[in-house]
Amino acid sequence: MPRPILATVHPEGLRHNLAQARVRAPDARVWAVVKANAYGHGIERAFEALRGADGFALLDLAEAERLRALDWRGPILLLEGVFEPRDLELCSRLGLWHAVHCDEQIDWLAAHKTQQSHRVFLKLNSGMNRLGFTPGAFRAAWARLSALPQVDEIAFMTHFSDADGPRGIDHQVAAFEAATADLAGERTLCNTAAMLRHASRPLRGVGVSTLAADWVREGIALYGSAPDYPENSAAHWDLQPTMTLSTRVIGTQRLQAGDTVGYGSTFTADGPLHIGVVACGYADGYPRHAGTGTPVLVNGVRTRLVGRVSMDMITVDLSPLDAAGVPAGIGSEVVMWGVSPSTGAVLPVDEVARAAGTISYELLCAVAPRVPFAPV
Ligand SMILES: Cc1ncc(COP(=O)(O)O)c(C=O)c1O
Repeated sequence: MPRPILATVHPEGLRHNLAQARVRAPDARVWAVVKANAYGHGIERAFEALRGADGFALLDLAEAERLRALDWRGPILLLEGVFEPRDLELCSRLGLWHAVHCDEQIDWLAAHKTQQSHRVFLKLNSGMNRLGFTPGAFRAAWARLSALPQVDEIAFMTHFSDADGPRGIDHQVAAFEAATADLAGERTLCNTAAMLRHASRPLRGVGVSTLAADWVREGIALYGSAPDYPENSAAHWDLQPTMTLSTRVIGTQRLQAGDTVGYGSTFTADGPLHIGVVACGYADGYPRHAGTGTPVLVNGVRTRLVGRVSMDMITVDLSPLDAAGVPAGIGSEVVMWGVSPSTGAVLPVDEVARAAGTISYELLCAVAPRVPFAPV
């Protein structure tokens, strides 16, 4: 009998969340961002539910090949562009669109022998200072690309550092407008946070009127999580969970006042306490930094983790179940995040991530290879 831990992807949640993007940005096309194996969900498991998107954005060429193997004929965008010259051969063969963010990528394109014309997304570094041409270098890059016979269309992109927070996007939008307003070509600026919070904001540029145009690049909201939690929750943005990590109680203990639990004795009972030992640990991708108080569902009842997360186990407080008259013991269902299969109760991944001092993205992407996924 395998360990009882299981990850389950919810295609109906993915479908619902994609439909929400159509509500938030009705005039834009949607890149479903499926990098990092669809934020840990598995490209193949998520694909059917997301095939209503207008394109898929990712960064790994092998993942692009997997999408083509699923018979996806529509647009695929490499968000970081190519990593070395020979990647361009695959772009030509698979018809991949690719970001161009540095002079070297233009050199490689200029030297690339192909009959297949390329569509590129010229990336402006509007202030994030990761990838992209600075405003001062942007025009020269555009002029070089425009002169290349290998390139038949140039679109424009930038990425926001603070669309989810108080600094906001004004400074980056201003830089983007200054660099691109008079240039014809499609534009993509919004990640999830910008799409949810700023999509209808005006944008100055040829053929565009709002920030959402022409494409939004939606990642985390597809996967049921709020980019600006705890300011706003997934429920606030009408997003549904897309992944459940569930497992079972494999042991129990009855503690007395003064007893401690787990490595480092970080939790001490202040009275009698019923404890459940749960088959899930950091080797399953559950964050070790999740401390006492991190929420967990047992038989659909919300309770808390107590003590330290170990490699294969955590310990949880079963007293809320005892108080509610819900039987709990070996075999009880435990939901680390997602939806309780027995009751439908939801534990948002955002809440677990916050308790562990991280973000949902990291938890979803970190589910370990040893955790089996339920067939979709
Ligand atoms: C360039 C780019 N666009 C879009 C996204 C999607 O972001 P989010 O998941 O916050 O929507 C990412 C993710 O990090 C990204 O790197």
